[in-house]
Amino acid sequence: MTNTDILKKLFIAFAKDDKEEFYRLAEEYIEREKKKKHNIVAKELKEALYSSKISTKSIVGRNYKNNIPIPRDTEKGFPLVEIKEYELDLDSLILPEETFQILNQIIKEFRDADILATYNLKPKNKILFCGPPGTGKTYSAQVISSVLNIPLIYVRFDSIISSYLGETAANLRKVFDFIENGTWVVLFDEVDIIGKNRDDHYEHGEIKRVVNNFLQMLDTFEGSSLIIAATNHQHILDPAIWRRFDEIVYFDLPGESERLKLFELYLKPIKKNKIDLLEYAKKTEGFSPSDIKMACIEAIKYAILNDKDQLTPMELDYALSRFKERMNIRNRGRKK
Ligand SMILES: Nc1ncnc2c1ncn2[C@@H]1O[C@H](COP(=O)(O)OP(=O)(O)OP(=O)(O)O)[C@@H](O)[C@H]1O
Ligand SMILES: [Mg+2]
Repeated sequence: MTNTDILKKLFIAFAKDDKEEFYRLAEEYIEREKKKKHNIVAKELKEALYSSKISTKSIVGRNYKNNIPIPRDTEKGFPLVEIKEYELDLDSLILPEETFQILNQIIKEFRDADILATYNLKPKNKILFCGPPGTGKTYSAQVISSVLNIPLIYVRFDSIISSYLGETAANLRKVFDFIENGTWVVLFDEVDIIGKNRDDHYEHGEIKRVVNNFLQMLDTFEGSSLIIAATNHQHILDPAIWRRFDEIVYFDLPGESERLKLFELYLKPIKKNKIDLLEYAKKTEGFSPSDIKMACIEAIKYAILNDKDQLTPMELDYALSRFKERMNIRNRGRKK
C-alpha cells in the first residue's frame, strides 16, 4: 500500500464516520513515518491525532482494550484501585521554578518516549513525591495525568494492606498485573504506611514483607505506565525504597513569591478592593498551598454571604485569623 492509498482510505473512513478505521489508518501512517526515522513528523502527527476530546476517549479505549476487571481485595471484595480522569492545567500548579522544571521534564520524557526509544533510552517512570501535607503531591499527579491525557489510577496503600496475612502480597500483585496491561499514570498515594515501624498497629514482620514485595514489584515493573508514589513522611521510609526511584521530587512549603501567586490564583473568581496581595503573601509564612486555598475560599464566602461583590481586606483578614486559630489547635494536638 502506498502512502496515497492510506490517505485515500483515511478520507473514506472519515466520510463514513468510521472512527475505529480512521484511527487505525492514521496510526499506520504514523508508524510509516517512524520507520523512515521521521520522528518529529511522527510525533507531530500523533499529537494532532490525539489533540481533541474524541482522542482522549480513544486513548482511554486503548487502556481498557483487554477489559481486565478492576482488581479487588480477595477477602472483602472492595476495589484496590480507582480510575480517574481530570482536566487540569499546568498553570494551576504553583511551584518553585526548579520543582516545576523537574515535573515538566518528567512529562516531556514520558510524552516523547517514542523518540527516546529510537536512541535506546527510556523515560523516567518511577517517581517519588515527598514533602509536607497540602503542598501539591497528590494534585501534581492529577495535573500530570491531565496534561499527558492519560487516566490516573489511584492506589490507596492502606486498602492494599489486608488484615489477612499473605493477602497483602496478593493484592499488590493484582494491582501491578492490572497496571501492566495499559498505559496509565499510577499514583501510589500515602505509601508511608508501608514504611511505618514498630509503634504501628500492623505487625512489624508483615510490614517488612510488604515493603520488600512492593520494592520487588517496582524493580521488575516493565509496563508503559508512569508510576508515582507520594508520602509526607519521607523520613520513615525504608532507605532501600529510595534507590528504587528514578527521580525524587521534594515539595516544600511555598516561599513568598509562590504564596503571592497562590493568592492571585485562588482569589481570581472575585473582584478585589484595596487588597494588597503581596502584603498577604508576606504574612502567611508557613502556610501550605492547600491552607492558602482554603483561606481564600473562606474569604470569598464571607464576602458573598454578606452581599458584597468585592473582596476587601476585612474578609480576608477574618478568614486568615480563623485559619491561624485552626493551625494553633492543630499544633496543640500534635505536641501531645
Ligand atoms: N502547589 C500547588 N499549587 C496550587 N494548588 C495547590 C498546590 N498544592 C496544593 N494545592 C491545592 O490544595 C489541594 C490539596 O493538595 P494535595 O492534596 O495535592 O496535597 P498533598 O501534598 O498531597 O498533601 P498530603 O501529604 O496531605 O497528601 C489541591 O487539590 C489543590 O487544590
Ligand atoms: Mg496527598
